[in-house]
Amino acid sequence: KGGTSMRLTLVGTGYVGLVAAVCFAKLGHDVIAVDREPVIRGLLENKSKVWEPHLEPELADVMAKGRLRFETSIVKSAADADSLMIAVGTPTRPDGQTELGHIHEVLAQLMQSGTCPPLVIIKSTVPVGTCDELEASLLAAGLHTEVAFNPEFLRQGSALHDFTAPDRIVLGCKTSQAETMLRELYEGIEAPIHVCDRRSAELIKYASNAFLAMKISFANMMSDVCEGYGADIRHVMNGVGADRRIGPEFLSAGVGYGGSCFSKDLQALLTTGKLIGSKLPLLEATAKVNDQRIPRMIAKLISLWGNPLGKRLCVLGIAFKPNTNDVRDAPFLTLLAQCERHGIEVQAFDPVVAHVGAKAVKVMDSPYTAAAKADAVLIMTEWPQFAELDWPYLLHLMRQPLVLDGRNLLPDSMISQIVAVDDAVYVPVGR
Ligand code: UGA
Repeated sequence: KGGTSMRLTLVGTGYVGLVAAVCFAKLGHDVIAVDREPVIRGLLENKSKVWEPHLEPELADVMAKGRLRFETSIVKSAADADSLMIAVGTPTRPDGQTELGHIHEVLAQLMQSGTCPPLVIIKSTVPVGTCDELEASLLAAGLHTEVAFNPEFLRQGSALHDFTAPDRIVLGCKTSQAETMLRELYEGIEAPIHVCDRRSAELIKYASNAFLAMKISFANMMSDVCEGYGADIRHVMNGVGADRRIGPEFLSAGVGYGGSCFSKDLQALLTTGKLIGSKLPLLEATAKVNDQRIPRMIAKLISLWGNPLGKRLCVLGIAFKPNTNDVRDAPFLTLLAQCERHGIEVQAFDPVVAHVGAKAVKVMDSPYTAAAKADAVLIMTEWPQFAELDWPYLLHLMRQPLVLDGRNLLPDSMISQIVAVDDAVYVPVGR
């Protein structure tokens, strides 16, 4: 801390943009965050759609200190900025290509205005070669701006921690001026800084997410082998992950990965490969293993129930993981669609998701009401409080005391309480 203070304009206040804006402001920079009018209004009225632990008080703090303010005009807010950072959505289109429309819109406004800060930093995940193309289009419009790439590695639910204590910071840039500015921006954060060309940086982001997804699918694949042979996936992965070359994280088997990043980035990387005639079979297999997780859960249920028609399933956990209210690409949605097909009724509970934009589910306000007259309960996300429920009582409320632990969440002490209940069945993953 105490380094050079920069004027940073940040476009996009989704969870990445908002977290970055707050954290750069905390580092002592003057930050203006820009988004569309309704989004900014929501933020100012404290109705942010982004729910992230610790974000609200930190946001209030930097705003009170005058380090962060919100605007709706990109051109006006960028006029005096040292650099402009773009953190808008880059979804994958149905054809597998990445939608860069939001980034183009931002740059189009600057081109029309005829001015642009000397450095544009792309934080959104973009396909390899994008920064080169964006810089060329700015140049064609007479704007001599360098476009750098600085990917994010924030996990939802621990984004503030990940920003301030990252494993690494990746700076993809062309000139040493850009590198210097980017280093100044991150001054105060203790982490190794990897400086490389922009194309490599763009690929680091995709390759990291693809590798993490591959680790999860590997664990899930091995969990099927464990089930078949009476081994325990937790022991197997503990033993495997203890090898420092492999590492212990992202080896938890369960209902599969969800969220707006892994599937999207895997698809985008597959498309990147296809464009040069490479099939990238490891990525295809990773996605395929993941796609099988929910059907496998349903098959387990059906084999335990017999006829699924008219059964009621209680699901604990709606978002794609704990500590977030993000339902995008949540395994829960896949589950819901398949339950509907089989005529299974779903009652769900999530500590921070109060409603889902789907008809086929009743979202309840407590795990106990969600379990009422259920024929099975399925733990979809590993919220710690699910492990501390009064499970014997919860089983009492059910029509059939069947527990599917989709995340291997419950400790042995709780499992013994569960199986002590008459007729109760506990089904974990991979053991
Ligand atoms: C992921 C990456 O972890 C971040 O580094 C990256 O910045 C981010 O995507 C992104 O590209 O924006 P996130 O999607 O927030 O972050 O969540 P993760 O914690 O990675 O979890 C993803 C999914 O994998 C969750 O559904 C989680 O339940 C599942 N998972 C994770 C497992 O099934 N097993 C594991 O061992 C770990």
